[in-house]
Amino acid sequence: MRNAFLIAALAFGFACSSCKKDDGAGGKPAEMTEIVVGEYGSMTGSEATFGQSTHNGLTMAVEEINSTGGIKGKKVRLVNYDDQGKTSEVGTAVTRLITNDHALAIIGEVASSLSIAGGQIAQQHGVPMISPSSTNPKVTETGDYVFRVCFIDPFQGYVMARFATDAKDKSGLGLKKVAILIDQRQAYAQGLAKNFEDSLVKLGGTVVAKESYQGGDQDFSAQLTRFKGASPEAIYIPGYYTDVANIAKQVRGIGLTVPLLGGDGWESVQDIGGDAIQGAFYSNHYSSDENRPEVRNFVDKYTKLHGKAPDSMSALGYDAMMILKNAIEHAATIDHKAVRDALAATKDFQAITGRISIDANRNATKPAVVLKIVGKSTQTAASIAPL
Ligand code: PHE
Repeated sequence: MRNAFLIAALAFGFACSSCKKDDGAGGKPAEMTEIVVGEYGSMTGSEATFGQSTHNGLTMAVEEINSTGGIKGKKVRLVNYDDQGKTSEVGTAVTRLITNDHALAIIGEVASSLSIAGGQIAQQHGVPMISPSSTNPKVTETGDYVFRVCFIDPFQGYVMARFATDAKDKSGLGLKKVAILIDQRQAYAQGLAKNFEDSLVKLGGTVVAKESYQGGDQDFSAQLTRFKGASPEAIYIPGYYTDVANIAKQVRGIGLTVPLLGGDGWESVQDIGGDAIQGAFYSNHYSSDENRPEVRNFVDKYTKLHGKAPDSMSALGYDAMMILKNAIEHAATIDHKAVRDALAATKDFQAITGRISIDANRNATKPAVVLKIVGKSTQTAASIAPL
């Protein structure tokens, strides 16, 4: 009896509260008038630019899709929940997207720790999830329904180690001794610190001091005093922008003048870091001054809408939605499994942040850029190809 009921439910696709999975496209196939895409992100909190920038890029993609006829004739409806940048809020947000809103697929999060939490839920329900920008390898290890459209941290760590150690005539900084300051609360910071250190050592450099903090801390004087004693030639801070701005001010306050280096989590630090962050370098997914025509079009359109150039999270949010559109178009049917399979088959998709092919581990292999902070803006200092 139960089997017969399940078969009927599958055949007719009607809503069923006891079924584990629904079709994700809002009811009976004949009535599928829209495609629901779920989004969870930090719209508020200390990482608020992560959620807001991503949302701006995502919304732009959805508007473009809907104004040109939708996907397979269906309009996309984006449902967004604010997780406040807290792992504890992710469960509610992702579960709601799946069970209340019947999202066909989910886009999120930016911060790796939150994507790991959200990915586990999406995986349990068999709903495809795409993280636009979480770079910790563990994110996609949560299961075969979890994807990303960005590179991963072993590569990102290598990029900054290369840039630090490359000779000056090879557009590097030509230095060897680095101190590292790590946010213990974030999987991203811990992983990236290790990846950077591994590459630095392979390239002939040394970590002369290593200290940690908890995201949100206000006083870094103990750690920075110890750094001073170790005479580093640079300080690597693989954390998020709000903490990085505070740290940079205290680094300069204590009289350390060496270059500051970081990763993609720095994005938007130039808005709040003031003098202390000038001349610092960080690895990133794209640069809004690239000349590729798709970048120029995207930057012009976004700037007209928002009055400022799109950062990498906006570009990756846009790319995540466009990759999902491409997958739904190629999927044999509009359901979670078929969309998952089509996402896994993505090859050579020309995105804003570069050409994206999804590999066997559901990650994207792409080049990275190193940006230098100049005023409230950035300049491209290097571009490093995938290994
Ligand atoms: N890569 C970071 C993480 O995994 C998030 C991030 C991406 C932050 C892009 C800013 C820009 O946690």
